[in-house]
Amino acid sequence: MCGIVGYCGKKIQLKKIIDKLKKLEYRGYDSAGITSIKNNTITTIKQVGKIDNLLSNIPGNLHTTCAISHTRWATHGKATHTNAHPHSSSKEQWTIVHNGIIENYQELYDKLKTKPASDTDTAILSQYLEENCNDNIESFITAFKNIKGSYAIVCINKNNNDSLYIAKKNSPLYISQAYGEIWVASDPISLPLEYDYLYEMLDNEFAYISDSNISFYDNNINIVDKKHININESFEETNLNKYPHFMIKEIEEEQSAIEKQIQFYKDKCILKEYNYDFIKNYENIKLIGCGTAYHAGLVGARFIEKLVGIKCTVEIASEYIYKEPILDTNKTLFIFISQSGETADTLRALEIVKSKGFNYISLTNVLYSSIARKSKHILPTIAGPEIAVASTKAFVCQLTTLYMFASHIHNVLEGTFIDYEKDLREVAKKILSFNKEKLDIIAKSIYQSPTAIFLGKDIDYIVAMEASLKLKEVSYINSTSYPSGELKHGFLALVEDGTPLIIFATGSDIQISKTLNATQESIARGAKEIIITNRYEYSKHNDNSIYIDSLNPLLAPILSIAPMQYLAYKVSILKGINPDQPRNLAKSVTVE
Ligand code: F6R
Repeated sequence: MCGIVGYCGKKIQLKKIIDKLKKLEYRGYDSAGITSIKNNTITTIKQVGKIDNLLSNIPGNLHTTCAISHTRWATHGKATHTNAHPHSSSKEQWTIVHNGIIENYQELYDKLKTKPASDTDTAILSQYLEENCNDNIESFITAFKNIKGSYAIVCINKNNNDSLYIAKKNSPLYISQAYGEIWVASDPISLPLEYDYLYEMLDNEFAYISDSNISFYDNNINIVDKKHININESFEETNLNKYPHFMIKEIEEEQSAIEKQIQFYKDKCILKEYNYDFIKNYENIKLIGCGTAYHAGLVGARFIEKLVGIKCTVEIASEYIYKEPILDTNKTLFIFISQSGETADTLRALEIVKSKGFNYISLTNVLYSSIARKSKHILPTIAGPEIAVASTKAFVCQLTTLYMFASHIHNVLEGTFIDYEKDLREVAKKILSFNKEKLDIIAKSIYQSPTAIFLGKDIDYIVAMEASLKLKEVSYINSTSYPSGELKHGFLALVEDGTPLIIFATGSDIQISKTLNATQESIARGAKEIIITNRYEYSKHNDNSIYIDSLNPLLAPILSIAPMQYLAYKVSILKGINPDQPRNLAKSVTVE
Protein backbone atom coordinates (compact mmCIF):
# COMPACT_ATOMS: atom_id res chain seq x y z
CA MET A 1 0.00 0.00 0.00
CA CYS A 2 1.03 3.62 0.05
CA GLY A 3 2.66 5.53 -2.79
CA ILE A 4 6.23 6.70 -3.29
CA VAL A 5 7.72 9.34 -5.57
CA GLY A 6 11.43 10.15 -5.44
CA TYR A 7 13.41 12.64 -7.48
CA CYS A 8 17.05 13.37 -8.21
CA GLY A 9 18.07 15.89 -10.86
CA LYS A 10 17.81 19.51 -11.95
CA LYS A 11 16.34 22.06 -9.59
CA ILE A 12 12.53 21.83 -9.48
CA GLN A 13 9.71 23.06 -7.29
CA LEU A 14 8.75 20.71 -4.44
CA LYS A 15 5.15 21.16 -5.55
CA LYS A 16 6.00 19.49 -8.89
CA ILE A 17 7.03 16.33 -7.04
CA ILE A 18 3.86 16.38 -4.98
CA ASP A 19 1.79 16.78 -8.14
CA LYS A 20 3.24 13.44 -9.27
CA LEU A 21 2.51 11.95 -5.83
CA LYS A 22 -1.13 12.95 -6.23
CA LYS A 23 -1.49 10.36 -8.97
CA LEU A 24 -0.75 7.73 -6.31
CA GLU A 25 -3.43 8.87 -3.89
CA TYR A 26 -5.44 5.80 -4.93
CA ARG A 27 -2.87 3.80 -2.90
CA GLY A 28 -3.76 5.55 0.35
CA TYR A 29 -4.65 8.95 1.68
CA ASP A 30 -4.19 8.90 5.46
CA SER A 31 -1.18 11.25 5.45
CA ALA A 32 1.45 12.58 3.08
CA GLY A 33 4.96 13.94 3.38
CA ILE A 34 8.10 15.01 1.57
CA THR A 35 11.78 15.26 2.52
CA SER A 36 14.42 17.15 0.56
CA ILE A 37 18.15 17.47 1.11
CA LYS A 38 20.39 20.43 0.40
CA ASN A 39 23.93 21.03 1.71
CA ASN A 40 23.55 18.05 4.06
CA THR A 41 20.46 19.58 5.63
CA ILE A 42 17.28 17.55 5.76
CA THR A 43 13.91 19.30 5.46
CA THR A 44 10.72 17.33 6.02
CA ILE A 45 7.14 18.53 5.67
CA LYS A 46 4.26 16.18 6.58
CA GLN A 47 0.51 16.51 6.96
CA VAL A 48 -2.22 14.19 8.14
CA GLY A 49 -4.96 13.62 5.55
CA LYS A 50 -4.99 13.94 1.81
CA ILE A 51 -2.17 15.22 -0.39
CA ASP A 52 -3.95 18.55 -0.90
CA ASN A 53 -3.35 19.27 2.81
CA LEU A 54 0.36 18.84 2.20
CA LEU A 55 0.30 20.86 -1.00
CA SER A 56 -1.35 23.81 0.71
CA ASN A 57 1.50 23.86 3.25
CA ILE A 58 4.31 24.01 0.71
CA PRO A 59 5.35 27.44 -0.54
CA GLY A 60 5.70 27.67 -4.33
CA ASN A 61 9.23 29.03 -3.99
CA LEU A 62 10.59 25.86 -2.32
CA HIS A 63 12.90 24.06 -4.74
CA THR A 64 14.97 20.89 -4.59
CA THR A 65 17.40 18.73 -6.53
CA CYS A 66 16.73 15.60 -4.46
CA ALA A 67 13.61 14.55 -2.56
CA ILE A 68 11.46 11.60 -1.49
CA SER A 69 7.72 11.79 -0.96
CA HIS A 70 5.00 9.45 0.26
CA THR A 71 1.25 9.06 0.58
CA ARG A 72 0.27 6.67 3.36
CA TRP A 73 -2.36 4.02 3.98
CA ALA A 74 -1.89 3.31 7.68
CA THR A 75 -0.91 -0.27 8.51
CA HIS A 76 1.36 -0.02 11.59
CA GLY A 77 0.26 2.85 13.81
CA LYS A 78 -2.55 5.37 13.49
CA ALA A 79 -2.84 8.05 10.82
CA THR A 80 -0.94 10.71 12.82
CA HIS A 81 1.73 13.28 12.01
CA THR A 82 4.36 11.22 13.90
CA ASN A 83 3.52 8.14 11.90
CA ALA A 84 3.49 9.94 8.53
CA HIS A 85 6.42 9.21 6.18
CA PRO A 86 9.23 10.13 5.49
CA HIS A 87 10.88 8.85 8.69
CA SER A 88 14.29 10.11 9.75
CA SER A 89 16.60 8.26 12.13
CA SER A 90 17.58 10.02 15.36
CA LYS A 91 20.71 11.69 13.88
CA GLU A 92 19.01 12.07 10.50
CA GLN A 93 21.60 9.85 8.85
CA TRP A 94 18.78 8.04 7.01
CA THR A 95 15.38 9.36 5.97
CA ILE A 96 13.12 6.82 4.33
CA VAL A 97 9.80 6.25 2.62
CA HIS A 98 8.47 2.72 2.50
CA ASN A 99 5.63 0.70 0.99
CA GLY A 100 4.98 -2.75 2.41
CA ILE A 101 5.47 -4.32 5.83
CA ILE A 102 8.66 -5.05 7.76
CA GLU A 103 7.65 -8.36 9.33
CA ASN A 104 10.49 -8.66 11.86
CA TYR A 105 10.04 -5.08 13.11
CA GLN A 106 9.78 -6.23 16.75
CA GLU A 107 13.10 -8.09 16.56
CA LEU A 108 14.75 -5.00 15.00
CA TYR A 109 13.12 -2.69 17.57
CA ASP A 110 14.43 -4.78 20.47
CA LYS A 111 17.99 -4.34 19.17
CA LEU A 112 17.76 -0.54 18.79
CA LYS A 113 19.75 1.68 21.15
CA THR A 114 17.48 4.64 20.41
CA LYS A 115 13.78 3.84 20.16
CA PRO A 116 11.81 5.93 17.63
CA ALA A 117 8.76 7.92 18.71
CA SER A 118 6.73 6.70 15.77
CA ASP A 119 4.77 3.41 15.96
CA THR A 120 5.64 2.49 12.39
CA ASP A 121 7.79 -0.38 11.18
CA THR A 122 9.36 2.14 8.80
CA ALA A 123 10.69 4.36 11.59
CA ILE A 124 12.25 1.28 13.19
CA LEU A 125 13.93 0.44 9.89
CA SER A 126 15.34 3.93 9.48
CA GLN A 127 16.82 3.81 13.00
CA TYR A 128 18.08 0.28 12.34
CA LEU A 129 19.97 1.55 9.29
CA GLU A 130 21.54 4.36 11.32
CA GLU A 131 22.75 1.93 13.96
CA ASN A 132 23.85 -0.81 11.56
CA CYS A 133 25.27 0.63 8.39
CA ASN A 134 27.46 3.41 7.13
CA ASP A 135 26.85 5.68 4.16
CA ASN A 136 27.89 3.44 1.30
CA ILE A 137 25.54 1.34 -0.81
CA GLU A 138 27.41 -1.89 -0.03
CA SER A 139 26.80 -1.45 3.68
CA PHE A 140 23.15 -0.51 2.99
CA ILE A 141 22.63 -3.74 0.99
CA THR A 142 24.30 -5.82 3.69
CA ALA A 143 21.98 -4.37 6.34
CA PHE A 144 19.00 -5.70 4.36
CA LYS A 145 20.15 -9.27 4.96
CA ASN A 146 18.42 -8.89 8.35
CA ILE A 147 15.18 -7.36 7.05
CA LYS A 148 12.16 -9.61 6.53
CA GLY A 149 8.96 -8.62 4.82
CA SER A 150 7.86 -6.75 1.75
CA TYR A 151 9.25 -3.39 0.82
CA ALA A 152 9.73 -0.72 -1.77
CA ILE A 153 12.10 1.67 -0.04
CA VAL A 154 13.69 4.93 -1.13
CA CYS A 155 16.14 6.65 1.22
CA ILE A 156 18.05 9.88 1.52
CA ASN A 157 21.39 9.83 3.32
CA LYS A 158 22.41 13.02 5.09
CA ASN A 159 26.05 12.72 4.13
CA ASN A 160 25.36 12.24 0.41
CA ASN A 161 23.55 15.10 -1.25
CA ASP A 162 21.77 14.30 -4.52
CA SER A 163 21.73 10.56 -3.91
CA LEU A 164 18.95 8.02 -3.42
CA TYR A 165 19.30 4.50 -2.00
CA ILE A 166 16.67 2.01 -3.12
CA ALA A 167 15.60 -1.48 -2.03
CA LYS A 168 12.75 -3.59 -3.35
CA LYS A 169 11.05 -6.86 -2.45
CA ASN A 170 7.43 -7.80 -3.17
CA SER A 171 6.25 -4.24 -3.68
CA PRO A 172 6.47 -2.51 -7.06
CA LEU A 173 9.00 0.21 -7.85
CA TYR A 174 9.98 1.83 -11.13
CA ILE A 175 12.76 4.24 -12.11
CA SER A 176 12.71 6.53 -15.14
CA GLN A 177 15.71 8.34 -16.52
CA ALA A 178 15.83 11.28 -18.84
CA TYR A 179 18.66 13.69 -19.44
CA GLY A 180 19.45 15.25 -16.07
CA GLU A 181 16.42 13.84 -14.23
CA ILE A 182 15.73 10.56 -12.44
CA TRP A 183 12.31 9.74 -11.00
CA VAL A 184 11.38 6.79 -8.80
CA ALA A 185 7.77 5.73 -8.24
CA SER A 186 5.69 2.84 -7.04
CA ASP A 187 3.52 3.05 -10.17
CA PRO A 188 4.69 4.28 -13.59
CA ILE A 189 1.46 6.26 -13.82
CA SER A 190 3.17 8.95 -11.73
CA LEU A 191 6.40 9.08 -13.73
CA PRO A 192 6.88 11.86 -16.31
CA LEU A 193 5.32 11.01 -19.67
CA GLU A 194 8.64 11.58 -21.44
CA TYR A 195 11.76 9.64 -20.48
CA ASP A 196 14.69 7.93 -22.19
CA TYR A 197 14.78 4.76 -20.10
CA LEU A 198 12.39 3.00 -17.76
CA TYR A 199 13.52 0.33 -15.32
CA GLU A 200 11.44 -2.03 -13.23
CA MET A 201 13.11 -2.97 -9.95
CA LEU A 202 12.91 -6.73 -9.35
CA ASP A 203 12.68 -8.48 -6.00
CA ASN A 204 15.88 -8.39 -3.95
CA GLU A 205 17.41 -5.74 -6.19
CA PHE A 206 18.95 -2.51 -4.96
CA ALA A 207 19.79 0.73 -6.72
CA TYR A 208 22.00 3.69 -5.98
CA ILE A 209 21.27 6.97 -7.70
CA SER A 210 23.88 9.63 -7.59
CA ASP A 211 23.55 12.80 -9.63
CA SER A 212 22.46 11.51 -13.05
CA ASN A 213 23.69 7.92 -12.70
CA ILE A 214 21.91 4.77 -11.58
CA SER A 215 23.75 1.64 -10.43
CA PHE A 216 21.82 -1.56 -9.86
CA TYR A 217 22.87 -4.37 -7.51
CA ASP A 218 21.68 -7.80 -6.48
CA ASN A 219 21.54 -8.74 -2.80
CA ASN A 220 25.11 -10.08 -2.94
CA ILE A 221 26.33 -6.63 -3.97
CA ASN A 222 27.06 -7.71 -7.54
CA ILE A 223 26.44 -5.03 -10.15
CA VAL A 224 23.36 -5.89 -12.24
CA ASP A 225 23.43 -5.00 -15.92
CA LYS A 226 19.80 -4.00 -15.99
CA LYS A 227 17.81 -3.82 -19.18
CA HIS A 228 15.27 -1.07 -19.53
CA ILE A 229 11.67 -2.02 -20.25
CA ASN A 230 8.88 -0.73 -22.47
CA ILE A 231 5.40 -0.27 -21.19
CA ASN A 232 2.91 -0.27 -24.02
CA GLU A 233 0.49 1.88 -22.15
CA SER A 234 -0.20 5.54 -22.53
CA PHE A 235 -0.57 7.23 -19.18
CA GLU A 236 -2.82 9.96 -20.43
CA GLU A 237 -4.25 12.30 -17.84
CA THR A 238 -7.40 10.93 -16.28
CA ASN A 239 -9.61 13.81 -15.34
CA LEU A 240 -13.16 14.26 -14.25
CA ASN A 241 -14.34 16.19 -17.32
CA LYS A 242 -17.94 17.14 -16.59
CA TYR A 243 -18.37 14.69 -13.70
CA PRO A 244 -18.31 15.57 -10.00
CA HIS A 245 -16.66 12.26 -9.02
CA PHE A 246 -14.71 9.45 -10.65
CA MET A 247 -17.15 6.85 -9.33
CA ILE A 248 -20.08 8.21 -11.37
CA LYS A 249 -17.81 8.89 -14.35
CA GLU A 250 -16.64 5.28 -14.27
CA ILE A 251 -20.21 3.93 -13.99
CA GLU A 252 -21.18 6.09 -16.99
CA GLU A 253 -18.22 4.66 -18.93
CA GLU A 254 -19.51 1.08 -18.62
CA GLN A 255 -21.21 0.94 -21.99
CA SER A 256 -18.14 2.12 -23.88
CA ALA A 257 -15.86 -0.07 -21.75
CA ILE A 258 -17.79 -3.23 -22.72
CA GLU A 259 -17.76 -2.17 -26.38
CA LYS A 260 -14.01 -1.49 -26.30
CA GLN A 261 -13.45 -4.80 -24.58
CA ILE A 262 -15.29 -6.75 -27.30
CA GLN A 263 -13.52 -4.87 -30.09
CA PHE A 264 -10.07 -5.31 -28.53
CA TYR A 265 -10.53 -9.07 -28.19
CA LYS A 266 -11.74 -9.26 -31.77
CA ASP A 267 -8.99 -7.10 -33.27
CA LYS A 268 -6.18 -8.78 -31.34
CA CYS A 269 -7.62 -12.34 -31.52
CA ILE A 270 -6.94 -12.59 -27.78
CA LEU A 271 -8.86 -15.83 -27.31
CA LYS A 272 -7.17 -17.68 -30.17
CA GLU A 273 -4.49 -19.21 -27.94
CA TYR A 274 -7.17 -20.95 -25.84
CA ASN A 275 -7.69 -23.69 -28.41
CA TYR A 276 -8.62 -27.34 -28.09
CA ASP A 277 -5.07 -28.39 -27.17
CA PHE A 278 -4.87 -25.75 -24.46
CA ILE A 279 -8.10 -26.73 -22.74
CA LYS A 280 -8.65 -30.42 -23.49
CA ASN A 281 -7.03 -31.88 -20.34
CA TYR A 282 -8.53 -29.62 -17.72
CA GLU A 283 -11.09 -31.15 -15.40
CA ASN A 284 -11.08 -28.35 -12.83
CA ILE A 285 -10.80 -24.59 -13.06
CA LYS A 286 -9.99 -22.54 -9.97
CA LEU A 287 -10.75 -18.83 -10.00
CA ILE A 288 -8.98 -16.69 -7.40
CA GLY A 289 -9.31 -13.03 -6.40
CA CYS A 290 -10.17 -10.66 -3.56
CA GLY A 291 -13.21 -8.46 -2.88
CA THR A 292 -14.95 -7.45 -6.07
CA ALA A 293 -12.57 -9.56 -8.16
CA TYR A 294 -13.57 -12.59 -6.08
CA HIS A 295 -17.21 -11.82 -6.83
CA ALA A 296 -16.34 -11.64 -10.53
CA GLY A 297 -14.77 -15.09 -10.12
CA LEU A 298 -17.99 -16.44 -8.61
CA VAL A 299 -20.00 -15.20 -11.60
CA GLY A 300 -17.28 -16.42 -14.00
CA ALA A 301 -17.45 -19.89 -12.45
CA ARG A 302 -21.19 -19.98 -13.23
CA PHE A 303 -20.45 -18.96 -16.84
CA ILE A 304 -17.84 -21.71 -17.25
CA GLU A 305 -19.88 -24.43 -15.54
CA LYS A 306 -23.06 -23.62 -17.46
CA LEU A 307 -21.46 -23.06 -20.87
CA VAL A 308 -18.56 -25.49 -20.77
CA GLY A 309 -19.35 -28.04 -18.09
CA ILE A 310 -15.90 -27.93 -16.45
CA LYS A 311 -16.09 -27.99 -12.66
CA CYS A 312 -15.08 -24.64 -11.14
CA THR A 313 -14.21 -23.61 -7.62
CA VAL A 314 -13.65 -20.04 -6.52
CA GLU A 315 -11.26 -19.01 -3.77
CA ILE A 316 -10.56 -15.85 -1.82
CA ALA A 317 -6.83 -15.36 -2.43
CA SER A 318 -5.92 -14.69 1.21
CA GLU A 319 -7.59 -17.97 2.22
CA TYR A 320 -6.23 -20.00 -0.65
CA ILE A 321 -2.64 -19.18 0.33
CA TYR A 322 -3.02 -21.33 3.45
CA LYS A 323 -4.81 -24.27 1.86
CA GLU A 324 -3.06 -27.43 0.74
CA PRO A 325 -5.49 -28.63 -1.91
CA ILE A 326 -4.99 -32.03 -3.50
CA LEU A 327 -5.02 -31.20 -7.19
CA ASP A 328 -3.64 -32.79 -10.30
CA THR A 329 -1.21 -30.34 -11.92
CA ASN A 330 -2.15 -31.44 -15.42
CA LYS A 331 -5.88 -31.32 -14.89
CA THR A 332 -6.33 -28.02 -13.06
CA LEU A 333 -6.24 -24.58 -14.63
CA PHE A 334 -6.12 -21.45 -12.45
CA ILE A 335 -7.55 -18.05 -13.32
CA PHE A 336 -6.37 -15.08 -11.23
CA ILE A 337 -8.55 -11.98 -11.32
CA SER A 338 -7.23 -8.58 -10.29
CA GLN A 339 -8.10 -5.12 -11.55
CA SER A 340 -4.85 -3.57 -10.33
CA GLY A 341 -2.67 -6.62 -10.85
CA GLU A 342 -0.90 -5.67 -7.62
CA THR A 343 -3.11 -7.15 -4.88
CA ALA A 344 -0.62 -8.84 -2.57
CA ASP A 345 -2.83 -11.82 -1.62
CA THR A 346 -3.66 -12.61 -5.24
CA LEU A 347 -0.02 -12.21 -6.26
CA ARG A 348 1.07 -14.52 -3.45
CA ALA A 349 -1.51 -17.16 -4.44
CA LEU A 350 -0.27 -16.90 -8.04
CA GLU A 351 3.34 -17.42 -6.95
CA ILE A 352 2.36 -20.54 -4.99
CA VAL A 353 0.43 -21.96 -7.94
CA LYS A 354 3.29 -21.13 -10.32
CA SER A 355 5.88 -22.75 -8.05
CA LYS A 356 3.82 -25.96 -8.03
CA GLY A 357 3.86 -26.10 -11.83
CA PHE A 358 0.18 -25.37 -12.53
CA ASN A 359 -0.88 -23.55 -15.66
CA TYR A 360 -2.71 -20.28 -15.06
CA ILE A 361 -4.28 -17.30 -16.75
CA SER A 362 -4.40 -13.80 -15.29
CA LEU A 363 -7.27 -11.47 -15.89
CA THR A 364 -6.14 -7.93 -15.18
CA ASN A 365 -6.75 -4.32 -16.10
CA VAL A 366 -3.10 -3.24 -15.79
CA LEU A 367 -0.84 -4.87 -18.32
CA TYR A 368 2.42 -3.73 -16.74
CA SER A 369 1.36 -4.88 -13.24
CA SER A 370 3.23 -7.49 -11.20
CA ILE A 371 0.53 -10.09 -11.86
CA ALA A 372 0.62 -9.45 -15.61
CA ARG A 373 4.41 -9.62 -15.65
CA LYS A 374 4.35 -13.01 -13.93
CA SER A 375 1.83 -14.46 -16.38
CA LYS A 376 2.32 -16.16 -19.71
CA HIS A 377 -1.42 -16.13 -20.44
CA ILE A 378 -3.28 -12.86 -19.91
CA LEU A 379 -6.92 -11.97 -20.41
CA PRO A 380 -6.80 -8.17 -20.40
CA THR A 381 -9.74 -6.12 -19.25
CA ILE A 382 -10.04 -2.91 -21.22
CA ALA A 383 -11.77 -0.83 -18.57
CA GLY A 384 -9.24 2.02 -18.76
CA PRO A 385 -7.89 3.57 -15.56
CA GLU A 386 -10.22 3.08 -12.60
CA ILE A 387 -9.59 5.84 -10.08
CA ALA A 388 -12.51 5.61 -7.62
CA VAL A 389 -11.73 3.22 -4.80
CA ALA A 390 -14.93 1.22 -5.34
CA SER A 391 -14.58 -0.94 -8.41
CA THR A 392 -17.40 -0.46 -10.93
CA LYS A 393 -16.47 -0.51 -14.61
CA ALA A 394 -13.60 -2.94 -13.94
CA PHE A 395 -16.07 -5.44 -12.42
CA VAL A 396 -18.33 -5.12 -15.45
CA CYS A 397 -15.33 -5.70 -17.74
CA GLN A 398 -14.23 -8.70 -15.68
CA LEU A 399 -17.67 -10.27 -16.19
CA THR A 400 -17.57 -9.39 -19.89
CA THR A 401 -14.16 -11.05 -20.24
CA LEU A 402 -15.20 -14.16 -18.35
CA TYR A 403 -18.34 -14.50 -20.48
CA MET A 404 -16.27 -14.18 -23.66
CA PHE A 405 -13.77 -16.74 -22.36
CA ALA A 406 -16.45 -19.25 -21.28
CA SER A 407 -18.37 -18.87 -24.56
CA HIS A 408 -15.18 -19.21 -26.60
CA ILE A 409 -14.24 -22.42 -24.76
CA HIS A 410 -17.78 -23.66 -25.33
CA ASN A 411 -17.39 -22.97 -29.05
CA VAL A 412 -14.04 -24.77 -29.10
CA LEU A 413 -15.20 -27.85 -27.20
CA GLU A 414 -18.85 -28.27 -28.08
CA GLY A 415 -18.86 -27.37 -31.73
CA THR A 416 -22.03 -25.29 -31.27
CA PHE A 417 -21.71 -21.52 -31.51
CA ILE A 418 -22.47 -18.92 -28.88
CA ASP A 419 -22.40 -15.47 -30.46
CA TYR A 420 -20.93 -13.79 -27.40
CA GLU A 421 -20.08 -10.60 -29.26
CA LYS A 422 -23.72 -10.10 -30.16
CA ASP A 423 -24.90 -11.00 -26.63
CA LEU A 424 -22.49 -8.55 -25.06
CA ARG A 425 -23.15 -5.73 -27.52
CA GLU A 426 -26.81 -5.94 -26.50
CA VAL A 427 -25.84 -5.83 -22.84
CA ALA A 428 -23.63 -2.81 -23.50
CA LYS A 429 -26.54 -0.97 -25.13
CA LYS A 430 -28.78 -1.62 -22.13
CA ILE A 431 -26.39 -1.28 -19.23
CA LEU A 432 -27.09 2.38 -18.50
CA SER A 433 -30.80 2.32 -19.27
CA PHE A 434 -31.95 1.71 -15.68
CA ASN A 435 -34.38 4.16 -14.11
CA LYS A 436 -32.18 6.78 -12.41
CA GLU A 437 -35.12 8.86 -11.14
CA LYS A 438 -36.51 5.87 -9.24
CA LEU A 439 -33.08 5.11 -7.82
CA ASP A 440 -32.67 8.73 -6.68
CA ILE A 441 -35.91 8.37 -4.71
CA ILE A 442 -34.89 4.97 -3.32
CA ALA A 443 -31.52 6.45 -2.28
CA LYS A 444 -33.31 9.17 -0.32
CA SER A 445 -35.49 6.57 1.37
CA ILE A 446 -32.60 4.39 2.57
CA TYR A 447 -29.58 6.61 3.19
CA GLN A 448 -30.29 7.11 6.89
CA SER A 449 -30.78 3.44 7.58
CA PRO A 450 -28.01 1.87 9.72
CA THR A 451 -28.34 -1.48 7.95
CA ALA A 452 -29.31 -2.89 4.56
CA ILE A 453 -29.82 -6.48 3.46
CA PHE A 454 -29.21 -7.77 -0.08
CA LEU A 455 -30.81 -11.07 -1.09
CA GLY A 456 -30.90 -13.43 -4.04
CA LYS A 457 -30.60 -17.02 -5.13
CA ASP A 458 -27.82 -18.59 -7.18
CA ILE A 459 -26.27 -16.01 -9.52
CA ASP A 460 -28.56 -13.31 -8.06
CA TYR A 461 -27.00 -14.01 -4.67
CA ILE A 462 -23.55 -13.25 -6.10
CA VAL A 463 -24.82 -9.90 -7.38
CA ALA A 464 -26.30 -9.32 -3.92
CA MET A 465 -22.82 -9.84 -2.43
CA GLU A 466 -21.23 -7.35 -4.81
CA ALA A 467 -24.04 -4.80 -4.42
CA SER A 468 -23.75 -5.04 -0.65
CA LEU A 469 -19.97 -4.52 -0.79
CA LYS A 470 -20.44 -1.45 -2.98
CA LEU A 471 -22.98 0.16 -0.65
CA LYS A 472 -20.91 -0.59 2.44
CA GLU A 473 -17.70 0.82 0.95
CA VAL A 474 -19.00 4.20 -0.06
CA SER A 475 -21.86 4.81 2.41
CA TYR A 476 -20.61 3.08 5.61
CA ILE A 477 -24.07 1.49 5.95
CA ASN A 478 -23.71 -1.89 7.61
CA SER A 479 -24.96 -3.81 4.62
CA THR A 480 -24.93 -7.55 4.29
CA SER A 481 -25.90 -10.16 1.74
CA TYR A 482 -27.67 -13.47 2.18
CA PRO A 483 -28.92 -16.29 0.00
CA SER A 484 -32.65 -15.55 0.24
CA GLY A 485 -33.46 -18.95 1.76
CA GLU A 486 -31.08 -18.29 4.67
CA LEU A 487 -32.82 -15.16 5.89
CA LYS A 488 -35.18 -16.99 8.21
CA HIS A 489 -32.34 -19.05 9.74
CA GLY A 490 -31.15 -16.27 12.00
CA PHE A 491 -30.70 -12.99 10.21
CA LEU A 492 -34.37 -12.11 10.51
CA ALA A 493 -33.60 -11.07 14.12
CA LEU A 494 -31.98 -7.88 12.78
CA VAL A 495 -34.90 -6.78 10.61
CA GLU A 496 -36.63 -3.67 11.97
CA ASP A 497 -39.24 -1.27 10.76
CA GLY A 498 -37.80 0.34 7.61
CA THR A 499 -34.76 -1.96 7.12
CA PRO A 500 -34.02 -1.91 3.37
CA LEU A 501 -34.29 -5.39 1.85
CA ILE A 502 -32.85 -5.33 -1.67
CA ILE A 503 -33.93 -8.38 -3.61
CA PHE A 504 -32.48 -9.61 -6.90
CA ALA A 505 -35.02 -11.53 -8.93
CA THR A 506 -33.67 -12.43 -12.36
CA GLY A 507 -33.42 -16.24 -12.22
CA SER A 508 -35.97 -18.94 -13.02
CA ASP A 509 -39.64 -18.51 -12.10
CA ILE A 510 -39.29 -20.98 -9.26
CA GLN A 511 -36.19 -19.22 -7.89
CA ILE A 512 -37.92 -15.85 -8.00
CA SER A 513 -41.06 -17.16 -6.35
CA LYS A 514 -39.01 -18.82 -3.56
CA THR A 515 -37.01 -15.61 -3.02
CA LEU A 516 -40.13 -13.48 -2.84
CA ASN A 517 -41.77 -15.95 -0.43
CA ALA A 518 -38.69 -15.89 1.76
CA THR A 519 -38.90 -12.14 2.11
CA GLN A 520 -42.52 -12.11 3.31
CA GLU A 521 -41.56 -12.68 6.97
CA SER A 522 -39.29 -9.62 6.79
CA ILE A 523 -41.87 -7.46 5.06
CA ALA A 524 -44.39 -8.47 7.75
CA ARG A 525 -41.90 -7.06 10.28
CA GLY A 526 -41.58 -3.73 8.51
CA ALA A 527 -38.69 -4.27 6.04
CA LYS A 528 -38.69 -1.93 3.03
CA GLU A 529 -38.62 -4.12 -0.07
CA ILE A 530 -36.70 -3.01 -3.19
CA ILE A 531 -36.67 -5.39 -6.18
CA ILE A 532 -34.18 -5.56 -9.03
CA THR A 533 -35.81 -7.73 -11.64
CA ASN A 534 -36.02 -8.65 -15.30
CA ARG A 535 -39.72 -9.51 -14.92
CA TYR A 536 -41.88 -6.65 -16.07
CA GLU A 537 -44.83 -7.85 -13.98
CA TYR A 538 -42.97 -7.21 -10.72
CA SER A 539 -41.75 -3.81 -11.70
CA LYS A 540 -44.54 -2.08 -13.56
CA HIS A 541 -46.62 -0.86 -10.61
CA ASN A 542 -43.90 -0.81 -8.01
CA ASP A 543 -42.09 2.42 -7.12
CA ASN A 544 -39.46 0.38 -5.33
CA SER A 545 -38.50 -1.82 -8.21
CA ILE A 546 -35.85 -1.47 -10.88
CA TYR A 547 -36.40 -3.20 -14.19
CA ILE A 548 -33.44 -4.62 -16.07
CA ASP A 549 -33.93 -5.72 -19.63
CA SER A 550 -32.10 -9.02 -19.70
CA LEU A 551 -33.26 -11.95 -21.78
CA ASN A 552 -30.16 -14.02 -21.09
CA PRO A 553 -30.22 -14.99 -17.39
CA LEU A 554 -26.45 -15.57 -17.38
CA LEU A 555 -25.85 -11.96 -18.37
CA ALA A 556 -28.31 -10.48 -15.87
CA PRO A 557 -25.51 -9.83 -13.32
CA ILE A 558 -23.91 -7.25 -15.62
CA LEU A 559 -27.20 -5.43 -15.94
CA SER A 560 -28.33 -5.73 -12.32
CA ILE A 561 -25.06 -4.54 -10.77
CA ALA A 562 -24.98 -1.22 -12.66
CA PRO A 563 -28.09 0.27 -10.94
CA MET A 564 -26.71 -0.90 -7.59
CA GLN A 565 -23.42 0.89 -8.21
CA TYR A 566 -25.42 3.99 -9.04
CA LEU A 567 -27.53 3.56 -5.87
CA ALA A 568 -24.39 3.22 -3.73
CA TYR A 569 -22.98 6.38 -5.32
CA LYS A 570 -26.17 8.33 -4.66
CA VAL A 571 -26.36 7.18 -1.02
CA SER A 572 -22.74 8.18 -0.54
CA ILE A 573 -23.45 11.69 -1.86
CA LEU A 574 -26.55 12.06 0.34
CA LYS A 575 -24.40 11.16 3.35
CA GLY A 576 -21.78 13.75 2.42
CA ILE A 577 -19.07 11.14 1.81
CA ASN A 578 -16.47 11.43 -0.95
CA PRO A 579 -17.27 8.21 -2.86
CA ASP A 580 -13.92 8.28 -4.63
CA GLN A 581 -11.93 8.05 -1.42
CA PRO A 582 -14.00 6.45 1.35
CA ARG A 583 -12.46 6.28 4.82
CA ASN A 584 -9.95 3.56 5.71
CA LEU A 585 -9.75 2.15 2.18
CA ALA A 586 -7.25 2.28 -0.66
CA LYS A 587 -7.56 1.25 -4.26
CA SER A 588 -4.68 -1.16 -4.42
CA VAL A 589 -4.01 -3.49 -1.48
CA THR A 590 -0.34 -4.37 -1.80
CA VAL A 591 0.10 -5.81 1.68
CA GLU A 592 -0.99 -9.29 2.77
C1 F6R B 1 -14.21 -3.16 -4.04
C2 F6R B 1 -12.83 -3.23 -4.43
C3 F6R B 1 -11.96 -4.25 -3.78
C4 F6R B 1 -11.04 -4.88 -4.83
C5 F6R B 1 -10.05 -5.85 -4.20
C6 F6R B 1 -9.19 -6.53 -5.23
O1 F6R B 1 -14.89 -2.15 -4.71
O2 F6R B 1 -12.38 -2.48 -5.24
O3 F6R B 1 -12.70 -5.23 -3.13
O4 F6R B 1 -11.84 -5.55 -5.76
O5 F6R B 1 -9.23 -5.14 -3.32
O6 F6R B 1 -8.50 -5.60 -6.01
P1 F6R B 1 -7.86 -6.01 -7.38
O7 F6R B 1 -8.98 -6.34 -8.31
O8 F6R B 1 -7.08 -4.82 -7.80
O9 F6R B 1 -7.01 -7.22 -7.13
